[in-house]
Amino acid sequence: MALLEVCDLEKSYYIENSRTLERRRIDVIKNVSFEIEENESVAIMGKSGCGKTTLLKMMGGLLSPSNGYISFKGEKLSDFDNERIENYRRRQVGFVFQDYKLLDNMTIKENMILPCILDHQDIAEALGKVEKIAEMLNICDRLEHYPYELSGGEKQRAAVGRALINSPSIIFADEPTGNLDSDTSKAVMDMLIGLQHEFKIAMIIVTHDKDIADYCCRTVHIQDGKMY
Ligand SMILES: Nc1ncnc2c1ncn2[C@@H]1O[C@H](COP(=O)(O)OP(=O)(O)OP(=O)(O)O)[C@@H](O)[C@H]1O
Ligand SMILES: [Mg+2]
Repeated sequence: MALLEVCDLEKSYYIENSRTLERRRIDVIKNVSFEIEENESVAIMGKSGCGKTTLLKMMGGLLSPSNGYISFKGEKLSDFDNERIENYRRRQVGFVFQDYKLLDNMTIKENMILPCILDHQDIAEALGKVEKIAEMLNICDRLEHYPYELSGGEKQRAAVGRALINSPSIIFADEPTGNLDSDTSKAVMDMLIGLQHEFKIAMIIVTHDKDIADYCCRTVHIQDGKMY
């Protein structure tokens, strides 16, 4: 059984013209089916606006599809009640974003431990996990610093640590190297892929960069709302 199965997925948005109040429907994802196995890595490529982030948000349980379904280990996300979908987001899924999305008024340590606190975990145990992952990501000496004191590459490594802290089954990375130069991108990708293998996590990376896609087991393309 696939870890994640996406079946006949569709997503439309409604856009309202603020002047005429006319509502228009845009069909962003049109009948996409796709599977990802445990430990597998897949790159998603496609033009800006083709629906890559929309697809990741649906797979991460942050957005409901208009039609079709997503199952995790054989169970449809749409059948999960609120508590289960929250647990899915907190424990099974990790997100990495292009703009890091670290909280500015918290230290790197606080940012990294936040998913454990939201999950009501034991603080001492959670701190142990932060220290272990920070060591793997070579940011131990940045833990007491605030995000504005870090370079882009360090911020993204901290964000990777935060995404991995609860040992998810799958990581969704939305253009994780989009704000980094090519050497820093490579360093971040080497760490991300290294940890993905070590922790045996599946990973879906959205990227515009063929070199980044080449880190993954396979690449799929989205065009006109369909996957190729
Ligand atoms: N909440 C929303 N309401 C209305 N339209 C939306 C919403 N979110 C996204 N869209 C539209 O859906 C389309 C797909 O957006 P999405 O962010 O998924 O694209 P993308 O492939 O991630 O683009 P990029 O590569 O620029 O990040 C765009 O036309 C966008 O304007
Ligand atoms: Mg996007």
